[in-house]
Amino acid sequence: MRAVVKNAAERGVQYVTDAGDPKAAEGSVVIEVGAASLCGTDRELYEWTPSAQAFNLNLPVTLGHEGAGTVVEIGPGVTGLKVGDQVALESHLTCGQCFPCRTGDAHTCERTGILGMHIDGVFAEYAAVPQDICVKLPTGLSLESGALLEAAGVAVHAIQRANYSVAGRAVLVSGAGPVGLVVVNLALLMGASHVIAVDPNPYRRAQAEKLGATALHPYDGIVERCRELTGHRGGFDVAFECSGAPGTLATLFEAVRREATVITVGHPSRPAEVDIAAFINKKGITLRGIFGRRLWETWEQSLLLLDSGKLELDWLITHRKKLSEIDEAVELLTGDACKVLLIPGLG
Ligand SMILES: NC(=O)c1ccc[n+]([C@@H]2O[C@H](COP(=O)([O-])OP(=O)(O)OC[C@H]3O[C@@H](n4cnc5c(N)ncnc54)[C@H](O)[C@@H]3O)[C@@H](O)[C@H]2O)c1
Ligand SMILES: [Zn+2]
Ligand SMILES: [Zn+2]
Repeated sequence: MRAVVKNAAERGVQYVTDAGDPKAAEGSVVIEVGAASLCGTDRELYEWTPSAQAFNLNLPVTLGHEGAGTVVEIGPGVTGLKVGDQVALESHLTCGQCFPCRTGDAHTCERTGILGMHIDGVFAEYAAVPQDICVKLPTGLSLESGALLEAAGVAVHAIQRANYSVAGRAVLVSGAGPVGLVVVNLALLMGASHVIAVDPNPYRRAQAEKLGATALHPYDGIVERCRELTGHRGGFDVAFECSGAPGTLATLFEAVRREATVITVGHPSRPAEVDIAAFINKKGITLRGIFGRRLWETWEQSLLLLDSGKLELDWLITHRKKLSEIDEAVELLTGDACKVLLIPGLG
């Protein structure tokens, strides 16, 4: 079959046409991949940056951790799935045995493995995956939307981590990539009074504006704008850091009011310094981060929003590429694009 494989600990990937057909082992199913989505992590893996190397890949491995498809083969011991079911995939493989797994926090599993890094992923015609990471899609939801759920779930988790406290609130979102944009979308859907999205990329700012947010460049006086809009309240109620750009946190701490909440989603490439006395103690800011999606509250919440028609994700898709166009697809991520899909069915 056709697949995009990372063979060696160096820059680049290989598009191959002779990858072995996956088999459904005990507890696993084979899916025919309908759509797979790229994210910044795939670019890092392609470029082989230090943060990509830190994932400790099981090389060689088929890349791709965001995807959806149709079940075509059922392994022994699989219950609850049948041939023909359409599923989206959770990308985190959890052990089920460690303390967080056993106490309802499997998203922080001590032995987290990742699809497309530690087992073969979805940049392929077929993928063999544990039944545990399959999430059945509601009837009528496209596989393309399904492929966006892993990334959109990160945004939903961020909103959950803020205790859903966005209704009527002034919400600041740093970074208008796919994750930040879905946070913007959700905050507006849930009735935020103000939503400001910050991004240096004009294409991404335009996408945020289309959703109804005020979009600003990081140099547009973010702190002053937030204070102006909220008057005597002293700043925004909640901020989401979805860029991973180093140094953004300081601006967010200034732009929010006392006793505000700041949620970190982006992974900065180096440690950030926080003035604990000024911001955490005296200003009373609650700082919380997220990792992946809560299993399975985030998926249930995301699917409810999609199934009800309140949330749509298709607008995130700006490009559809063949598996053989992987180099171009990775390149697109740094330009005028949002979600780039690989569609194995295109050839
Ligand atoms: N915590 C998690 O579990 C988790 C999961 C997925 C992704 N992530 C991280 O979340 C972040 C967002 O993911 P994404 O897929 O939307 O990534 P992305 O790279 O597509 O988006 C990041 C956006 O931030 C913008 N940006 C760059 N510098 C900025 C600055 N100084 N101020 C504001 N915006 C700036 C970029 O132009 C880009 O549009 C990434 O850092 C990613 O690694 C975290
Ligand atoms: Zn991803
Ligand atoms: Zn575990």
